[in-house]
Amino acid sequence: MIPLIKSTFHNEKSTKKELIKFIQKADYLSFGKECKKFERKFARYQGRDHCVFVNSGSSANLALIQALLNMGKIKKGDKVGFSALTWSTNAMPAIQLGLDTVPIDVELDTLNVSSSKLLKVLKKYNLKVVFITNLLGFCDDLDEIKKICDERKIILIEDNCEALGTVYKGKKLGNFGLASTFSFYVGHHMSTIEGGSICTDSNALATALGLVRAHGWDRNLSEGKQRKIREKFKVNSTFYSRYTFYDLGYNLRPTEINGFIGNQQVKYLDEIVKKRKDNFIKFAKNLYSNPNYYPIRYDHIDLISNFAVPIICKSKKIRDELVEKCNGKVEIRPIVGGDISQQPFFIKYMNKYLENNANANLIHEQGLYFGNNPELTSKEINLILKIFTN
Ligand SMILES: Cc1ncc(COP(=O)(O)O)c(C=O)c1O
Repeated sequence: MIPLIKSTFHNEKSTKKELIKFIQKADYLSFGKECKKFERKFARYQGRDHCVFVNSGSSANLALIQALLNMGKIKKGDKVGFSALTWSTNAMPAIQLGLDTVPIDVELDTLNVSSSKLLKVLKKYNLKVVFITNLLGFCDDLDEIKKICDERKIILIEDNCEALGTVYKGKKLGNFGLASTFSFYVGHHMSTIEGGSICTDSNALATALGLVRAHGWDRNLSEGKQRKIREKFKVNSTFYSRYTFYDLGYNLRPTEINGFIGNQQVKYLDEIVKKRKDNFIKFAKNLYSNPNYYPIRYDHIDLISNFAVPIICKSKKIRDELVEKCNGKVEIRPIVGGDISQQPFFIKYMNKYLENNANANLIHEQGLYFGNNPELTSKEINLILKIFTN
């Protein structure tokens, strides 16, 4: 069986060895200097001014929505547009925090939201935020989407949990909106076992995220930022400042173990991305022109970085036959959460936005993906190709 994921870490053996040594000599293991070091390294990798490290990609999405609320950039009842084809915890935080979530259908040939799909939704709804998902390492015309959002003063944020490393029009995905979120869950591009982050160039947003991540207090902010916030709220006593809670928050902190692993793994990120890109090109060249499948367009993207390869069959029958053929040989999954607006939680809480997302639906009904990990051998790649081209 060719699994979706082969190991928890890249260079697993040496990473585990280093981790054991680190744990044995560490003075403490809760959020500290390893996490902060990782934030600096990841921000540099992504090309953003700030990175806020949290304990999962889902937490990153929750923290980002909460921070925008705390800052007064959005308010309860505002409408958030999101990609119909995505993961549950992309849409859930907005619902949990009292916002309305409006699905935007995706294009069949990119699996992602395009400017024309966004414009269609904007004719009907006044969106305050577009929380786009860069699904499976792909994107559509994200530069045009950014233009539309800028012109209409819509806040664009990106869920980049599935596209770390992809480059579009010379820019890494995750750098088109005000902020972007990442997942470091096992099986995503880079693993800290569990983990996630939010990247942004906004100093004010990074400060708000720092409070949201840890109880609403200022302890993990820089000294300068602490001084400012304490002055603003007239907190003069060092005794009480440690127990002053400035705004709504959670405990979404990662541990030093996650930070240490992140610092080890980020070194391999370019290598990981290159291997996944090379694998993807081999699959795409052989599979996306197959008459049994819908072609997926990627020539507009400079560098594709994904952890799974999607296949959209021309009929449900073809997909079901593939599922049979893969049984016991290749591990496969449906395409992420399918049309999220068809999921029970969405119908329960957001039934006024049950649009017809025809493409997201078709992708759910006729699609599947198999893993694209950096440890795939040529033999395994050939076996997958054989199953999917016969
Ligand atoms: C698009 C997207 N957003 C968010 C998440 C949540 O990330 P995590 O599993 O780290 O909570 C995932 C998880 O797979 C995802 O695919």
